[in-house]
Amino acid sequence: MAACGLTRDEALEMLRKGVSNLNLQRHCLATGAIMRSLARTRGADEDLWETTGLLHDLDYEETESTPEIHGLKTAERLEGLLPPECIDAIKAHNGENNGFARKTDFDRLLTAAECVTGLITATALVYPDRKLAPVEPRAVVKRMTKTGFARSVSREGIMECEKAGWSLDDFVALSLEAMKSISEDLGL
Ligand SMILES: [Fe+2]
Repeated sequence: MAACGLTRDEALEMLRKGVSNLNLQRHCLATGAIMRSLARTRGADEDLWETTGLLHDLDYEETESTPEIHGLKTAERLEGLLPPECIDAIKAHNGENNGFARKTDFDRLLTAAECVTGLITATALVYPDRKLAPVEPRAVVKRMTKTGFARSVSREGIMECEKAGWSLDDFVALSLEAMKSISEDLGL
């Protein structure tokens, strides 16, 4: 992949300007942190992977009533700022609605990362202090099959990790650690 055309600070500023909802900003921060950790495990460009996670939902608020273009608007906006592989992954994270298929491990991992943030956050909120600190990976994995829990979280999306060579257990453990490392920013 080519280098990122944005610094981390520039990406964060785009996120803060483009996304007004604090919880959505936090979802993007969490996705970025997981992507950074995933990049580290394969010697990939950590800044680029994080930036892709940070910006993947940039158009979310403006496409809420038109999910078929969610991801595509962001792709237009980031054209020339991120390498094509990153733009494709951003489109493909909403492939179910916009028809842009996932093709690479990077595509699959962005989808899995952004979906698992929801399950991890919902699990933390079950605990008395509503914090990530006491959450263990198995508490998250256990909730994968509880369909009434965090109903809006796509379990299929999380399972994309397996197509990219990750076991669910290992993927959840890495994601949880990544989110714990920025728990203050996440308000958790
Ligand atoms: Fe997302």
